[in-house]
Amino acid sequence: MRYLHLPSGAPMPVLGLGTWHMGEAGSRGADVVNALRLGIDLGMTLIDTAEMYGEGGAEEVVAKAVAGRRQEIFLVSKVYPHNATRKGVVAACERSLKRLGTDHLDLYLLHWIGDVPFEETLAGFAELQRAGKIRSHGVSNFDAEEIARWYRSPDGNSVATNQVLYNLARRGIEFDLLPWCRKHKIPVMAYSPIDQGSLLSKRALKQLAARRGVTPAQVALAWVLHQQGVVAIPKAVRPEHVRENRAALDLALTPEELRELDRAFPPPKSAKPLEML
Ligand SMILES: NC(=O)c1ccc[n+]([C@@H]2O[C@H](COP(=O)([O-])OP(=O)(O)OC[C@H]3O[C@@H](n4cnc5c(N)ncnc54)[C@H](OP(=O)(O)O)[C@@H]3O)[C@@H](O)[C@H]2O)c1
Repeated sequence: MRYLHLPSGAPMPVLGLGTWHMGEAGSRGADVVNALRLGIDLGMTLIDTAEMYGEGGAEEVVAKAVAGRRQEIFLVSKVYPHNATRKGVVAACERSLKRLGTDHLDLYLLHWIGDVPFEETLAGFAELQRAGKIRSHGVSNFDAEEIARWYRSPDGNSVATNQVLYNLARRGIEFDLLPWCRKHKIPVMAYSPIDQGSLLSKRALKQLAARRGVTPAQVALAWVLHQQGVVAIPKAVRPEHVRENRAALDLALTPEELRELDRAFPPPKSAKPLEML
């Protein structure tokens, strides 16, 4: 596995495991736990979850997958904006820790911007950090101007990551947000790196994948992993998908292949509002 470093110096794997829709009614319980265990065995030890996913169900699935091997895992969860008051964020984190069967998170994120002033959420994060319940904290779905405002808030400059929608079909962040994060040495965590599967039918990806003897998903993921300062968290339940995703880390795209992808999926020429799911 390759690692990026948080501003604190803590290492974070560049490739992890998403958990959205896991632990929901009707999701395949044992398959999901096995998929996460397989991913961990293959070195994808960053696990991204949230109190929102399955209303706590995903965190319970993660607890089963990491049981007995918590120390290997870089565990990320997220707080709902409506829980992100000073007291609310502490209580939400404690509920998440209980469901996850652990005493700390490696990274705790505000899932998206709500009505609570940044100062309040940051005060709650600081309290959690002092208590050893979270190692680092950050944000998700923050656009360039928003993360700059967060950064200027008291203790906001300790923001450890911004988790945003980023893949070949959604390159808007390259215009301003990604350069801002790079300048401040804040890793970006790319969610939906294969655009929830919708990238897989794109002709340019299929052609390049066929030439290299890999799958379109692997090319899409490899492209994200070629971006400096970016971590990817694909979600996969099917074991062949988990294995393919791990192998994408070893897929080196050539400069010509990267140019080919730029022609098919052009980078932004102007600022665009941040896309989110
Ligand atoms: N912060 C936020 O607001 C936010 C928003 C969205 C997502 N996220 C996080 O990011 C994670 C990933 O995003 P996502 O789940 O939206 O989308 P994604 O990872 O881009 O795509 C997931 C879909 O792609 C399929 N897939 C995975 N690997 C594949 C492969 N190698 N070949 C073909 N299909 C493959 C999966 O199928 P199977 O499951 O059947 O294998 C699943 O249907 C989430 O799970 C969540 O943890 C965060």
